Amino acid sequence: MTAPQTFHIKSFGCQMNVYDGERMAELLVAQGMSAAAERADADLVVLNTCHIREKAVERVYSDIGRIVKDGRREGGSVPLVAVAGCVAQAEGAEIMARAPAVRVVVGPQAYHRLPELVAAAAQGGRATDTDMPAEAKFAALPKRRRSGPSAFLTVQEGCDKFCTYCVVPYTRGAELSRPYGDLVEEAQALVDGGALEITLLGQNVNAWSGEDGTGRATGLDGLIRALADIPALARIRYTTSHPTDMSDALIAAHGEVEKLMPFLHLPVQSGSDRVLKAMNRSHSVASYLALLDRVRAVRPDIALSGDFIVGFPGETEAEFAETLTLVEAAGYAQAFSFKYSPRPGTPAATMDGQVVPAVMDERLQRLQAALQRSSLAFNQSSVGRTCQVLVDRHGRKPGQWLGKSPWLQSVYFEGNSAIGDLVDVELIEAGPNSLAGKIVERVPA
Ligand code: 5AD
Ligand code: SF4
Repeated sequence: MTAPQTFHIKSFGCQMNVYDGERMAELLVAQGMSAAAERADADLVVLNTCHIREKAVERVYSDIGRIVKDGRREGGSVPLVAVAGCVAQAEGAEIMARAPAVRVVVGPQAYHRLPELVAAAAQGGRATDTDMPAEAKFAALPKRRRSGPSAFLTVQEGCDKFCTYCVVPYTRGAELSRPYGDLVEEAQALVDGGALEITLLGQNVNAWSGEDGTGRATGLDGLIRALADIPALARIRYTTSHPTDMSDALIAAHGEVEKLMPFLHLPVQSGSDRVLKAMNRSHSVASYLALLDRVRAVRPDIALSGDFIVGFPGETEAEFAETLTLVEAAGYAQAFSFKYSPRPGTPAATMDGQVVPAVMDERLQRLQAALQRSSLAFNQSSVGRTCQVLVDRHGRKPGQWLGKSPWLQSVYFEGNSAIGDLVDVELIEAGPNSLAGKIVERVPA
């Protein structure tokens, strides 16, 4: 097999995988390869996988099957398939055994070695690296050059919290913060490359810690304040946060740093203290709600987002009803909700009282209906406001644009604009998932 010239990367799962996918693409381009317009045209297909729930894993295996089938049908050439990401980390050996078409397996902390692994596989072999020393990876990646208007920047990886349902501590390893100086430099490079908005990413992003330029210890608030000093950067966001790591200083930053957008993704998972304890969440319903009060005291308009799991082992109907009560009390602007999925190797997978699928389905439906009502109420409360929308794509209709409000709402409007514009828009009509707006004034970006 000759060395691949073109590649296609498909990222599953979270925003950190999107970031990793971009960095892998930059690496391959630095090797002289180019992105294929379609998967079918690629010599190398990288599946950047997610292990968080069983469904995500099944999709990887069905994708591998489809790639092999399509390759055969279209003239006998199957591309070189590399599996990256968290499934690679957790099930590398199993993938190699189950899917002979996979020639490279590379874990999330080792993808800086993707080009050499691909080169080795192109010689006819198979190559694996699932080592975990995260420090090596970032230093070995090429500098950032180009960016869309909204960029991701991974500042922290891994998790030490060990929620009993979650694979992340096993696939991404221990909590690790990237150094302050490297992050300020990467943020500046993203802004120089066109970014107006940066979302700081981490599995526990608010656990980020480092030393600023003067050697003083600082938390995420300090990093946010430093990035706010980059003149051409208009917006800063961060995700995902753990309630226990929400420091006073970070809360204060929400009231003081104008570029820090009024949005907080703060997963709660359940509204039952017993279930939270069984999940090893280290917060209660009361402490979560008290935290929201403190955030809202400094930023009353903050848009709250969350994650929920229904059907955790042992969850009773009454405990599930407590989750519905919490949804009412907290007031979510948006949220993600999932059926519990037992993950191999996690404590919850072997707990008594696994909930049957039909009950989980029914609870998920009721929860999602409550969350939709909550999103609609939040969006309706925005109608009449004028805000800046960062345009990130074309709408479905000609002349229509789509972008994000400061509260991360999807806003569509018509008129004279372009991707990357920050436009003043009046919000005129609300649905649960988006708002219609009207241009008020064009602000040069
Ligand atoms: N089953 C279902 N949902 C899960 N999540 C994490 N692990 C599981 C699991 N085993 C959800 C949590 C987390 C989000 C990223 O995914 O809600 O916050
Ligand atoms: Fe998983 Fe819990 Fe860590 Fe989030 S905090 S990544 S849910 S173990």
